[in-house]
Amino acid sequence: MNKLRFLIITGNPKKTGLSSGLTENIFRGAADGGAEPQILTVEKLDRCHVCAEGWGICRQKHLCAYGKDGFAEAQGKVREAEALCLVSPVYWGELAEGLKGFLDRLRRCEFNTEALRDKPVLLAASPGGSGNGLLSCLEQMDRFCRHTGAVIFDYIGVNRWNHDYKYKAAYAAAKALCQGRRAGETFSEVDLTGPSR
Ligand SMILES: Cc1cc2nc3c(=O)[nH]c(=O)nc-3n(C[C@H](O)[C@H](O)[C@H](O)COP(=O)(O)O)c2cc1C
Repeated sequence: MNKLRFLIITGNPKKTGLSSGLTENIFRGAADGGAEPQILTVEKLDRCHVCAEGWGICRQKHLCAYGKDGFAEAQGKVREAEALCLVSPVYWGELAEGLKGFLDRLRRCEFNTEALRDKPVLLAASPGGSGNGLLSCLEQMDRFCRHTGAVIFDYIGVNRWNHDYKYKAAYAAAKALCQGRRAGETFSEVDLTGPSR
């Protein structure tokens, strides 16, 4: 049986810390849920050039005119994925700039295509300083999903004083999603035990 293609898109520039711990738990949950998880890092990609008078070829051709920076390849991975996770550290109460830039470009290309429509998406963010800004960060992710037709599976927020139990929630959410649980449906209980740090 083919494994669910689960793509974790992250704008985290760090290799260790709260945010990478969150990604790690989501990856593990997805793998234990039977999926084939893949991590896509986008923080080094270019930003939207806002072509012409607001729109470029993104509107009609659903491609970015500057896609050779790695965007086109990343867009292809999103299209191939059957379920996704957006994960970001909270910067200034918002998404990390690299992820925001990528989602801005992707939204322009995919706002009226089938690329994300009805795909389940897990949203996760980690405010590592004051802990403030989680909601506004998740809200940005939420708006991206609404514009592209993706279906939000869950929202996970992890900070310095809740990561012991929130990492477990992140692991469990990814596992449940990859085992087939869907937003809006009554579920039969699945085994959500498993490692998390
Ligand atoms: C530019 C910048 C802005 C930040 N803004 C916030 C913020 O608004 N709220 C918050 O709780 N933490 C903030 N932080 C801390 C990050 O959220 C924290 O680094 C992130 O959760 C990742 O944790 P980690 O560094 O342990 O991976 C900010 C960090 C940076 C670099």
